[in-house]
Amino acid sequence: MTTLVVLGAAGDLTSRLLLPGLADLLVSHHGGDLDLHLVGADRDEREQAWWTGVVRAAAESAGARGPAVDALVESTRYAAVDVSERGSLARLVQEAGAEGPGGPGGPGDEASSRDVVLYFALPPAVTGSALRALQPGDLPHGTRLVLEKPFGHDRESAAELNELLTTLVPEDHVHRVDHFLGKSTVLNILGLRFANRLFEPMWSAEHVERVDVVFDEDLGLAGRAGYYDHAGAMADMVQSHLLQLLALLAMEPPSTISPRDLRDAKAAALRATRLWDEDDPASCTRRARWTAGTIGDEKLGAYADEPGVDPERETETLAEVVLAVDTWRWAGVPFRLRSGKALSTRRKEAVITFKHVPHLPTGLLGTQSPTRLRIGFGPDDVTLELDLNGEDDAFGLERAALSTELSPGELTAYGQVLLGVLKGDPTLSVRGDTAEQCWRVVEPVVRAWSQGLVPLETYPAGSGGPRGTGLMADVDAQGCV
Ligand code: BG6
Repeated sequence: MTTLVVLGAAGDLTSRLLLPGLADLLVSHHGGDLDLHLVGADRDEREQAWWTGVVRAAAESAGARGPAVDALVESTRYAAVDVSERGSLARLVQEAGAEGPGGPGGPGDEASSRDVVLYFALPPAVTGSALRALQPGDLPHGTRLVLEKPFGHDRESAAELNELLTTLVPEDHVHRVDHFLGKSTVLNILGLRFANRLFEPMWSAEHVERVDVVFDEDLGLAGRAGYYDHAGAMADMVQSHLLQLLALLAMEPPSTISPRDLRDAKAAALRATRLWDEDDPASCTRRARWTAGTIGDEKLGAYADEPGVDPERETETLAEVVLAVDTWRWAGVPFRLRSGKALSTRRKEAVITFKHVPHLPTGLLGTQSPTRLRIGFGPDDVTLELDLNGEDDAFGLERAALSTELSPGELTAYGQVLLGVLKGDPTLSVRGDTAEQCWRVVEPVVRAWSQGLVPLETYPAGSGGPRGTGLMADVDAQGCV
């Protein structure tokens, strides 16, 4: 029995991702086990009918219908709370733990017996002040805290936040959300690597030339300037989502997928990760910002002219970094991470490029291209690119691809993340030490940027990104350019 309290009920994250994910979860086959009550909270006084409408609309947007959703909509409650005021949040948690469907003291009330999950769907600064307003002992045993990214704004602030959290609840009751870990294709890396005899023996510097993790989007800001202009592509995507992907790709095989084993393996990989050339950070990174252009048929103004953007802040909308993973397995293999917005093509994939064979039998004609394994994160697919004997000449090599589309999974990424949170399973949550490591990895890059050692390049919206070959030749959809 759980009460989920969403702080930031009026926010975009709540209506666009969180509540649809929740409704999706309730109507899935996991829904039956969840005895859930929902409380929405925000700063302003609002009508109960407004909140009920928000929850209903979110469920409709997810196409989620049925008795479980109806019960959630009918029983949910809205509360106005100033989270930064000492005592307010603690009071709300006490109340939430003592109420069931029908409201406090109402029918179905399971007095004082519900665990409370406190979901901070708030801007990072507000989350920080809410946590600082809580006192040790304020939160009843069993309370779980859910925090959105970015977790802090650098290593030091993440460490401070971690220290504060340990005074409130145990570490395994803290869920640092990275919704990429809830994507079924991302989780598929586990099956692909560890359930097939074919790949794992090849998964090392002996056979792998390079690893590229690319997350290029054709969308602009989508009304999120207030958040994005303070984060930028590095914190928004690379430091968070893409490093989580790197961890899953680079980690040693865990013995089990338990929270301890999986997160230990990821943490060890991230602790071993550093800039490709630590003596010359500027040579390992690129940053750029979009200028006016056209994406498809749509014109997009320059990022710097977007409402809510301060051009002087020099926020990057594209970030690229080359990293090394200092382990026996990966010594000498570059991991290139790149993400940008307002680009021509949506390209979301990890590409493992294998080395050439040691000897190509003389007489086989054509140019040998490296074997490539592509793991697509939208569209969700896996493709193995190979050189095979061609149709026209029996001794000529031609490129062939073995490809399969993956099912999007029963749950949305947020549904999957919420399932873990509501079941008290931290497997898919980012552990405190890992959150700090992710900042440590990008620290020298951010420093080099702020010292002006890396120019802020530009690219027209709708283009392929800034000109030039970048840090490493791009492995695009056709191969190596
Ligand atoms: C979010 C970022 O965490 O992830 C966005 O803040 C980004 O900027 C998004 O667009 C990408 O995730 P998805 O699930 O929409 O592919």
